[in-house]
This record gives sequence, C-alpha cells and structure tokens, in this order.
Amino acid sequence: MTRRTIVAMPGDGIGAVVLEAAVKVMEAAGFQADYEFADIGWEFWKTEGNPLPDRTIELLKKHKIGLFGAITSKPKDAAAAELATELQGKGFVYASPIVGMRQLFDLDICIRPCKTYLGNPLNFVRRGANGDIEEPFVDVVIFRQNTECLYSGVEWTNPPEQVYEAFKTNKAFLKNFGNVPKEEISISARIFTRKYTGRILKAAFEHARNNGYKSVTLCEKPNVIRETSGMMYKMAQDMQKNEYPEIALWNTNIDAQMMWLTKNPEDYGVIVAGNMFGDIVSDGFAGLIGGLGFACSANLGEEIAVFEPTHGSAPKYADYPVSIVNPIAMIASACMMLHHIGESATAVRIEKAIAEIIAEGKVKTYDMMKMTGSPDVIKNGAASTMQMADAIIAKL
Ligand code: NAI
Ligand code: MG
Repeated sequence: MTRRTIVAMPGDGIGAVVLEAAVKVMEAAGFQADYEFADIGWEFWKTEGNPLPDRTIELLKKHKIGLFGAITSKPKDAAAAELATELQGKGFVYASPIVGMRQLFDLDICIRPCKTYLGNPLNFVRRGANGDIEEPFVDVVIFRQNTECLYSGVEWTNPPEQVYEAFKTNKAFLKNFGNVPKEEISISARIFTRKYTGRILKAAFEHARNNGYKSVTLCEKPNVIRETSGMMYKMAQDMQKNEYPEIALWNTNIDAQMMWLTKNPEDYGVIVAGNMFGDIVSDGFAGLIGGLGFACSANLGEEIAVFEPTHGSAPKYADYPVSIVNPIAMIASACMMLHHIGESATAVRIEKAIAEIIAEGKVKTYDMMKMTGSPDVIKNGAASTMQMADAIIAKL
C-alpha cells in the first residue's frame, strides 16, 4: 500500500493538542502516514496578514487530504487591531481561513454525523408518556451545503449604487425598504446554485441508500424563502422521484426542526440543508449526543477533503499546563478521514474503542463529568486530553 501524506493543520488554541491526540491514536491503530504540518490561523493573520498562507494552500493541492484542528476568528475591528504594526493600514482584511479553504477548494459537501454513544453521561434524555425518563438513540447524519447560501461572502453595508438600484427592481424590496436611505442598509445575499444544490442533495440520497436509511429530510424553509429553499425542495422532490424512489423525502422547516429534534430525534436519519440551516441543525443534533467534544465533520470537494471537529479553538483552555479538552470530536473526525481514504477497517477499530471507553464510563473528560472547565478538573477526577487518547489506544 502506498504511504499517505496527510496535511496536518493544528491552527490555534486547543487545535494543536486535539490533533496531536488524533495522530497518536491513528498511529497506535497501525495507520502509517507522513504528516506535513501546515500553518493556518490567527498567528499567521497577525504576523503575515493572511490566516491561510499560500504555502498551506500548495500543500493541500499537492496531498489532497487535510486534518484540521481549529482556529481563532475575531470580528473585523479586533482583527485589524491585532495585526502587526508594520502591516497595519496596508489593506489587509481578515477573513476566516476555514470558510476560505472551503470556497477555494470547493469543499462543498459537509458531513456531520451525530450518533449516540451508549453510556455517554451527556446524552439527551426526555420524559416519556408515563413520566419515565427516556434516552432516545440518535443516529443522524447532516449533509450541509458548505460553500453557498449566507456564507458566500456576497454582502454590503451601504451597498454601491448599482446594487441598490438592482434591488429596487424587486417589488418586495421597493415596498419594504424603498424608503430606507442606502447608507442605512446592510445586505447579505443568500445564493444557491443548481449545481451545488444538486451535489449536496445527491450526496445525502446516496448516503441514505448506501447505509440503509429510509428517509432523507430536507431542512430549509421553502414556504417562506421561496426562491432558494424553494429551488432546493423542488430539486429534492425531482431527485427522489426519478432516482431514489425507495427513500422517503421529508420536508421540515428549520425552526420547527429545532423543536422536533428534542421531541423525536430518533425519527430522523439523513438530513440535508443549505449552509446556514445546516450549520444550525447540526449544532442542534450535536447537543443531543454530548456537544462539542463529540461533534466531528468532513468537508469534501471533488479533489480535496478536509476533516475537522466542529468545535473552535477554546482559547480559555489553550494554555493549561495539562490540556483538559475532549479529543473525541477530533479523533472521530480522523476516523471520517480514514473511511474516506479507504482505511475503513482502522477507522472502525478506533470507533469501537471510543464507544467502549464511553460505555465503560471509567475515563471521562471534564465535559463528560459536567464540570466547569478549570485546571483543577484533573485533580477532581477528570481525564486529561491525552489520558482520554491513551485510554482509547489501550482499547484498540
Ligand atoms: P469553541 O468551540 O472554541 O468553544 C465553545 C465551548 O465549548 C467552550 O466552553 C469550550 O471550552 C467548549 N469546548 C470546545 N471544544 C471542546 C472540547 N474539545 N472538549 C470540551 N469542551 C470543548 O467556540 P467559541 O468559544 O465560541 O470560539 C472560540 C474561538 O474559536 C473563536 O475565535 C471562534 O471564532 C473560533 N471557532 C473556530 C471554529 C473552527 O475552527 N472551525 C469553529 C467555531 C469557533
Ligand atoms: Mg457552527
């Protein structure tokens, strides 16, 4: 077998320690690869005015597979203020490197599985009909369009005259905003294209078919957002009818879905949504299975794929002498990478080891013990990041 090269991007804050834990687990499981460590994140914004340096882009183009920790992002003004003095006033504008990476490499398909680990003390419970406590088994995979919608970056405050005039050709704009001075308007465009809408729908239906899910739920708002959500729903209906007749298509509105997911999460399987609503609904489901310490994801393009936990850089825990954060989200993301590159047997072994450690309940990070994060949690019985990784390794 050819030895793979993985582009490892630790990023900021806890990104480095969770990535280290994941690499250690994969190595212990026998996955042999070379890791090219690549620069990304806040440090490189501050010192170079670019959080996604060209050298990192080249490495990803070359090796095609990235494993990413997390980055720190800050609002526009804070970003400008932290830029190195010699770079200030030279026209550098901060933009999130992860959003940038998704758009640059067309990583349009984001997959976020949320599956209950039996025995996880953070599992969602609800009260049943007889007043007893039920713990529904959640097994949902969210397919989130990753490059378009409200995150496309097409936005203006005090839009240019041409844009303003163009908007005035729209009746609803004229009626509701026609009297608002241009300077008082901010616009963020929600753009969907047939190509990428079709790709995310297809990915969702294929996943359902190949993994025995009986339904695909489109989670948008077509009754109100008629053009973008409406187009997606129409395309989903056509695709279901013509190509996936054995799979049911359900249509839920994002707002209602956020309510339903605590009432009957076990009823959902594959969920597909645009970028914004996919982001929201995937965080919602992640909350049912333990939250950020467990939420993993894949960003897939036609050529390049990047795998990452959905959590951020958790700066408040970044400089602890012993890291306390849960590495499972990152390790599970690494497993998604292994599946993607044809190393499913190794991925399954690691996933089984994670499940066993959680079910056993002896080794738990602070979040699993419902503690408030502080350096003291270790003294109080919580496992450190590396102790959790080592426990998983011991189970392999
Ligand atoms: P965050 O995900 O870093 O942290 C939110 C909360 O979850 C914190 O209480 C944190 O301590 C906890 N947490 C996060 N990961 C954990 C883990 N592995 N185990 C246990 N607890 C964990 O989000 P926050 O605080 O909103 O943002 C911090 C920074 O991260 C910001 O600069 C933000 O822009 C950035 N961010 C980056 C993302 C990425 O790299 N993809 C995603 C989300 C936020
Ligand atoms: Mg999110």
